[in-house]
This record gives sequence, C-alpha cells and structure tokens, in this order.
Amino acid sequence: MNKTEELAARGSKVIMNTYSRFPIAFDHGKGMYVWDMDGKKYLDFVAGIAVNSLGHANEKLCEKISEQCRKLMHVSNLYYTEPQIELAEELCSHSCFDKVFYCNSGAETIETALKICRKYATMKNKPGRDIICMEKSFHGRTYGAVTATGQDKYHKGLDPMIPGIKHVPFNNFEALKNAVDENTCGILLEPIQGEGGIIPAKKEYLQKVRALCDEKDIVLIFDEVQCGVGRTGELFAYQVYGVEPDGACFAKGLAGGIPIGAFMAKDKLAEAFKPGDHASTFGGNPFVTSAGTVVMDMLFNGGLLENVKKQGKLLSEKLNALKDKYDIVKDARGIGLMQGIELTIPSGPVVADCIKNGLLLVGAGTNVIRFVPALIVTSAEIEEAMNKLDKALDRASK
Ligand SMILES: Cc1ncc(COP(=O)(O)O)c(C=O)c1O
Repeated sequence: MNKTEELAARGSKVIMNTYSRFPIAFDHGKGMYVWDMDGKKYLDFVAGIAVNSLGHANEKLCEKISEQCRKLMHVSNLYYTEPQIELAEELCSHSCFDKVFYCNSGAETIETALKICRKYATMKNKPGRDIICMEKSFHGRTYGAVTATGQDKYHKGLDPMIPGIKHVPFNNFEALKNAVDENTCGILLEPIQGEGGIIPAKKEYLQKVRALCDEKDIVLIFDEVQCGVGRTGELFAYQVYGVEPDGACFAKGLAGGIPIGAFMAKDKLAEAFKPGDHASTFGGNPFVTSAGTVVMDMLFNGGLLENVKKQGKLLSEKLNALKDKYDIVKDARGIGLMQGIELTIPSGPVVADCIKNGLLLVGAGTNVIRFVPALIVTSAEIEEAMNKLDKALDRASK
C-alpha cells in the first residue's frame, strides 16, 4: 500500500460512510493543482465542488486569514466586527440586496430562506405556508433543505419530510402557475440547477416567475449556492438573467474554501426577521468574512470576473467540439465556469478514467460530467483538461 491508499484505508475506518469516496488522500495544493500523499499531481476541475474560487493556497487569502486570526477570530453575533460589515457592504453594493444574514453552509442559507418565506407571510397577515420548489433541484441535507430538494433518492428513509413543500417541473411556467394558490408563500429555485445536471433556467421562464410573484406577493428566492459568486462571469447568476429575486442563497465559493453561508434579501423581505427569529453562533465571524473580502477584491479588482467570461467561452467551445466529435456526448451546456456535458452512458467510469490520468472531475446526476474549476483557471489549463477528457471519451466510445 502506498501512503495515499494507507490514509484512505485509515479514513474508511473512522469517517462515517456517507460519501462514495475515491481511495485518494490529498496532501497539498497550489493554484489549479493538488498532490496526493505520494506526490501524484492532479489538475483540479472540481475545486472542492465549486468552492475554491481562488484555487489552492492563494497567497492573498492565506495572508489575510492568518493576519485576521491573530487579530480576532471570533466574538459572536452579539457584536459587530469590521470584516463582516465590510463583506456585507461589498455584497450589497454590488447587488440588488440590502441585508445579509451570515451562516456556515449552503444548507443553512436554505433553512434561512424557508423560514423567512413563512415569516414574511405571517408579517403580511397572509395564510401562506407552502413553498414551491423544483423537481431535479438540490438544496442540501438539513431537513428543510433536503425536503426542498426535488429528487426522491435524497428522501429515502427520512420520512416524514417537513410539511408544506411542493415540487413542480423546472423551466415549466404553466406547471408552476397551476401549483400556486392562496397558501403559497414562497418559490425557491436554482437559476442554474447544479447537482440536477447543470440545467440553466430559461430567461423567459424566470421573467414570468418574477411577474407571478409580484402579482401574488409571493417571495421569490434564488438558490445561488453553486452558481453564485462569480461563477457565471457576473457576481450573481440573477444578474446574467436580469431578473431580481427577493432573496438569495450564497455559500461555497464566497470565502474561497473557508465555510460560509450568506442569505441576502431586499429590505422588504429582510424586515420579516426580528431579533431572536434566527441566529448562528459562528455565522459571519471575522475570520471567515475576512476571507470573503479577499474573494470579493479578486473578483472586482483582480480581473476574475473577466477571466470567468473569457475562460467560460473557451470551455464551452471545447465541450461543444467534444460533443461534435463523440456520439456518447449528447449535450454540452452551462454558463461561465459552471458547465456540463451530458453523456448517453453513465458518467462515473469516464470521471474515474480522468482521475486515474490526473484530472479531477465530478459528476452531476448519473449521466452528466460537471466542470466547475477555480475562477483563476487559465486557457492552458483548460486545454490540458480537455485533452485528458478527449482521451477518456475516446476510450469510453470503444
Ligand atoms: C445549489 C445548492 N444549494 C445548496 C447546497 C448545499 O450546500 P452545503 O453542502 O454547503 O450545505 C448545494 C451543495 O452542493 C448546492 O449545490
């Protein structure tokens, strides 16, 4: 056994078996690359599942967080700290939102969203309790978030799920309209479905959903946990569509790898929460929010948003070329650096083949391969990844 296999074996004895893990253990990373315990190098197109927005071991991020943890790591939300305010100011000034609630993960932002939808209805003296979510969606694993997730496989053995959550087909306005009644208080959707298979919303669909929510005073929430924070080439995915939600969920890439969640809302919705209605011990502590300020600085002043647009175009061209070349590639789709190819065969063996050959990829659903590299990715790294993928698709076609 080499060191990597040894560590993976040790891990399998003490880490709960909730993931189908690869027998790989990583030791360190730099930029777009990671190395396992035996020094094998991998080009990382997973980025911790769309988390390491600045790549691995980014100097500015490392400097900032080490400086901040020596200064002040945590004090609780009974008080204010400068980094959390600075990040919130950045997020609000670059978006349609007025207020931020900090937490620690994507699922927690969803819990926040579900609660605030019902609180809003209560504040407005409306009967609404029901929240409509989408089929094929993914919102996380806490009880509310997993109930909101529109995929049966995640509900197995967990019933009863929380009441008042309905699911309708995504990108189908008639189905949504027919599901809305006087009991509806919120609609939750991902502008680009991630785990469900990289499925972008249609612009016209989102426009109609917005108009319906305005007409009925229903809260519209976008789950941008995966597609937000620069991944589309805009700070937030709603900006690509020009359709503003009332509230939105952000997490993953926001602090470049430090656990963070941010639920953002326009004032009209934010005021539904009063002191004591919601809380998080760690949420938005100075350590994590200082990391967020570095990510924001890099997005706006370090050329990252432009890079996402440029490299996203290249990635899309390359994936479409592979679609033309191989019959097993049925579709290529996505926005910016959140793209996928749908195969006619299960994606697992192709992903495993790429990993064996030094390219980290991740599936989405059973037939889709997802491409969510760090936002710092270069054209040369995209070329390298696509060459490896090309060879894997060639082998899988035979
Ligand atoms: C769109 C979306 N929402 C929510 C979540 C849950 O985030 P977390 O795993 O940080 O709880 C995820 C995670 O993949 C996601 O992709």
